[in-house]
Amino acid sequence: MEMTRETLRERTFRAVMDAINLLDRHGIVLPEPVPVLLRKPEGFLDIPSDPSNGDFATNFPLKAAKHNGRSPRELAELFVEVLGQVSAFKDGLFSRVEIAGPGFVNFHLSSQALARHADEIQEAGNAFGYSDLHQGEEVMLEFFQPNIAKPLHVGHLRSAMVGHACFLLLRSQGYSTISDTHYGDWGVQFGILLNAYLRLSEEEREAIFSDAEPIDRLNELYVAENKRIEEEPELRDEGKALFAKLEAGDEELRTHWQRFVDVSLQAYPPVLDWLGVPEFTVQLGESFYESRMPADLERAAKAPGAVKEGDALYFDLEDVGLGRCYLRKTDGSTTYHARDISTALYREENPEWDLKRNLYFVGAEQSHHFRQLFEVLRRMEVAIADVSEHVVLGLMKLPEGKFSTRKGNIIRATELFKETERRVLEVINEKNPDLEGKEETAQRVAVSVLKWWDLSHDHTTSFVFEWDKALSFEGNTGPYMQYTIARLGSILNKAASEERGTVLAEYPFEEGAAELVLLRKLVGFEDVVRAAAERQEPHHVCAYLFELAQAANAYYTEVPVLKEEDGSVRSARLSVVAAVHQVLSNGLTLLGIPVVEEM
Ligand code: ARG
Repeated sequence: MEMTRETLRERTFRAVMDAINLLDRHGIVLPEPVPVLLRKPEGFLDIPSDPSNGDFATNFPLKAAKHNGRSPRELAELFVEVLGQVSAFKDGLFSRVEIAGPGFVNFHLSSQALARHADEIQEAGNAFGYSDLHQGEEVMLEFFQPNIAKPLHVGHLRSAMVGHACFLLLRSQGYSTISDTHYGDWGVQFGILLNAYLRLSEEEREAIFSDAEPIDRLNELYVAENKRIEEEPELRDEGKALFAKLEAGDEELRTHWQRFVDVSLQAYPPVLDWLGVPEFTVQLGESFYESRMPADLERAAKAPGAVKEGDALYFDLEDVGLGRCYLRKTDGSTTYHARDISTALYREENPEWDLKRNLYFVGAEQSHHFRQLFEVLRRMEVAIADVSEHVVLGLMKLPEGKFSTRKGNIIRATELFKETERRVLEVINEKNPDLEGKEETAQRVAVSVLKWWDLSHDHTTSFVFEWDKALSFEGNTGPYMQYTIARLGSILNKAASEERGTVLAEYPFEEGAAELVLLRKLVGFEDVVRAAAERQEPHHVCAYLFELAQAANAYYTEVPVLKEEDGSVRSARLSVVAAVHQVLSNGLTLLGIPVVEEM
């Protein structure tokens, strides 16, 4: 694990803080809320959209001027003057610090600082972007929570992709990450399913389990039963009663239920393997909490707002506009909320865990559920309520066809995967028919087609999956990213290894050199990874990597690398390419996307 290094942004921030401390001697003080802003570099240093305005900028003189009875300009001048005395400035971090507009200060990193940074990338190699900033802080990430005896829906895939990417991002910053799949294997729906199942003959039951798609068969049974319930409502009561019986420990029902669970659980590993999601740290389905619920519900019943009505137990959350939240129904059976209460208590009280965060990667349609859940936990004074978060996932609409129903969300994941592979292979056959190991490459590229499409969108938004766009080698796509990395990799492979050792910090880059554009872009990687990890927003990493890839493509179409005649120039260019290649592959890896060496 890489030791935490100060990013160039943080170093710039430190220089600013040092200068502000010197200003103190001139009687300049910062008004609130500027000191609050100052604590975090991202709240204070901007990255100008036009690079000619520098790598970083601050408007603090503008903010602090009035408070100190000076003009912004005066304050900015004083600031720049004292900045000359701070060590970062003396060490050559900046080539220029200039005053712009009314009270803005722009910082231009020196080409030497940029070059040294690229050298550091190469030294750190695969560990670049990683830090031990949050060593020892534990985070629970709950993602990919399918429901037993029901087909997967796209939400489960999104949850797997976004959840796993966040898992990797958080881990890269030193967090101890714990993953849990928390599959849905409990609830009244099992009573309803069991009621239909019990009416089947022995042969009909066996036919379900010997079928190629037993989950689909079980789901059909469940759907049909719900249809029947519309005509014969008493069947619903029978189902409810069966679930109550199951909860009460009936052995025969348990045996049937266990079979539903076992056959469903078999379907998940191939899906997770394909996506490259490793085994979960813990795999605790909702039923795991069954034995804990009675005591937990008793505890809940004592909290303010809890109402008992016969066997029912609910929280009246009207006062905060969240309606009623049932933990136990009138028939005595527990609810989805009850299981989530027990889950949260278990996570809080597990002596092996000390969770700093408890994250649920779940679709937006469950926002109300989680609001109610967190509110009830707060009323129960469970500390985990304050560190729990619903990471909201919008809907990804799949193309009509065999993966999705009319509602657009029921999918057979393995078919979607196969179809993606098939289409990728078609493109490879067209572009690079002689490629060795085409099938394996196609699989990896296919993973990046789906993951990049998913992760590059803000996860809270809904969007449509579009084959043509997602498969394209141009534009913001997985294949484009892979292609860029492969192309850079092939330049590096073609160069003799002794040519790649240039220490860029010693190379005399001229002002305006094309390499500097790339070196400048590299500056943002660590900051973006850290911010994306903190906020569980992988799409920022995608946006950054895409811009870097575009800059890299622009660079090598304009500037000769291997064809450059001057050995020292060629070697310096190769070092720049190597640093970019490193960052692009580390970025993909951090998102859980396998890098393809050649395509
Ligand atoms: N299994 C549920 C579903 O597919 C999602 C579970 C979300 N996690 C939770 N702790 N409630 O709808």
